[in-house]
Amino acid sequence: KQPALQSVYKDYFDIGAAVNLTTIESQKSLLAYQYNSITAENDMKFERIQPEEGLYTFEAADRIAGFAAANGMKLRGHTLVWHNQTPDWVFKSADGEPVSRDTLLARMKSHIETVVGRYKSNIYCWDVVNEVIEDKSDVWLRESNWLKLAGEDFIAKAFEYAHAADPNALLFYNDYNECNPEKRDKIIRLVQSLQEKDVPIHGIGLQGHWNLNGPTLPEIREAIERYAATGLKLQVTELDISVFDYEDKRTDLSEPTAEMLERQAERYGQVFELFREYKDAITAVTFWGAADDYTWLDNFPVRGRKNWPFVFDEKHEPKPSFWKIAGPMKS
Ligand code: G3I
Repeated sequence: KQPALQSVYKDYFDIGAAVNLTTIESQKSLLAYQYNSITAENDMKFERIQPEEGLYTFEAADRIAGFAAANGMKLRGHTLVWHNQTPDWVFKSADGEPVSRDTLLARMKSHIETVVGRYKSNIYCWDVVNEVIEDKSDVWLRESNWLKLAGEDFIAKAFEYAHAADPNALLFYNDYNECNPEKRDKIIRLVQSLQEKDVPIHGIGLQGHWNLNGPTLPEIREAIERYAATGLKLQVTELDISVFDYEDKRTDLSEPTAEMLERQAERYGQVFELFREYKDAITAVTFWGAADDYTWLDNFPVRGRKNWPFVFDEKHEPKPSFWKIAGPMKS
């Protein structure tokens, strides 16, 4: 029988996967055997949970929480405040005009209280604020309705509301492009400003949407070290390693080549070796899916293209990448 990643890594960190209502059925046994943590890929986002003001739709989120509980898995919450997948009503008043700062913060508060409160006994850790740092180097925060209408301190408020709703939950700031030095500096600046103000923040989520040829290992190491130096816990929250080079825009492959699988395995091996080295800082590594039959990278960033970014193939069988991370450990 193949080893289970959750057992192989039990002295290191949790091994998680993002799931949705389809995959908790189609990938059920793989998930339960290999992983000890899950994250809802979409079903706990604002638009899914409160599509209209005061209308809470918890069915999907509840099923995912139930799946975690039934299989003894941990559950990460994703995500409370984001510029994306948030319904328009949040930012508009009855007459269609933009809401005031006070109204927006009140809406944010009641959403956070309701959602965090509901899953208090299920969710141990929340991505409270997601992706508010701008990618362009000369701009600090991403332009969004949250920022425009509430001002910069919506970020601190989100953490405060979440902490009030569940003082035991670990609260994370989550973002991508962690290996771009300018963006990372801004992420660290944000996190440190929250720490200085005693805002309840406990961790940084490093998403880890990576390609076959980048970021490099030294770049990833640098990201981990810089984040760990804040004293906060780190989690790799959305790991996937595309089988394409960053520049590769091919759309004609019906399966990954042997060379791609080999390079992907090398890279998974190196990346996990690095994660193990930082096991005191890294508390969980979550893949943004579980097996190659389903990934958000199908059609992204290149339309009409399938990707194979995980360590299990479309039939849920271990790939070379799996053996590289589950095989004998060097550290
Ligand atoms: O559910 C609707 C369906 O009813 C509709 O017919 C269909 C038509 O487009 O859309 C479906 O919704 C899609 C949804 O995924 C569920 O499949 C959305 O269009 C699509 O935009 C959405 O994409 C999600 C994306 O976040 C949105 O930004 C991906 O599944 C999800 O993997 C991705 O996850 C994000 C993290 O939350 C944050 N970090 C980056 C990561 C990858 O983009």
